[in-house]
Amino acid sequence: MSVPGVSWAATTPPPRAEHRPPAGRATTFFMERIVALLPIYTYNHSVLRKKAKTLKRPDAGLVRAADDMLETMHKANGIGLAANQVGLLQRLIVVDMTGSEGVEAFEPLVMFNPAVVDEEGKWVLEEGCLSIPELRDEVERAERIRVTYRDRNFDERELEATGMLSRVILHEVDHLDGILFVDHLNLLKRKLHRGRLNKIDRGDLQVEYEVVPNQPKVIG
Ligand code: CO
Repeated sequence: MSVPGVSWAATTPPPRAEHRPPAGRATTFFMERIVALLPIYTYNHSVLRKKAKTLKRPDAGLVRAADDMLETMHKANGIGLAANQVGLLQRLIVVDMTGSEGVEAFEPLVMFNPAVVDEEGKWVLEEGCLSIPELRDEVERAERIRVTYRDRNFDERELEATGMLSRVILHEVDHLDGILFVDHLNLLKRKLHRGRLNKIDRGDLQVEYEVVPNQPKVIG
């Protein structure tokens, strides 16, 4: 999920500084892993429409993927990212609310197998999505949720979330089920956005992060 007008760099120190070798300590370089930026699949790539698989056990590769997703999301100014969006059909989402309105410090969340077990209330807010750039609209979602998940050590966790955090988690869990925020809009609104959606589908978009469009332009 993305937020409008939030400059990540303006509000926080450089992301994931802990992954970079500290100056003057060259020996630690070999201990560090340089995280990778992943391309983000955009509307309406088939990987965004598939249901991601439940994870049976922790896997070092998936923990690395989670770190790569966090880095990718930070670079794209996002506050949530689901594995489908980087072409991985596993039930994994990452959330970092740092930089969103009113949030100064937030420990990034890595959630394996997130499951919303309780929902309460309804509220409407405008959403965006890194897979649907330059399109925003209002979506109604639960105001308060209870979610179970496994953390990066694969330990069982439970979280109660309200407001924006609850919204981001619901948006990302939707992705794992092949659902996009535009699917929640009524027919009239979807008609209104059709031109923009078709453009994204054709890869006709301008973003500052690497994307994998559904129908990449063939040159020559
Ligand atoms: Co999204």
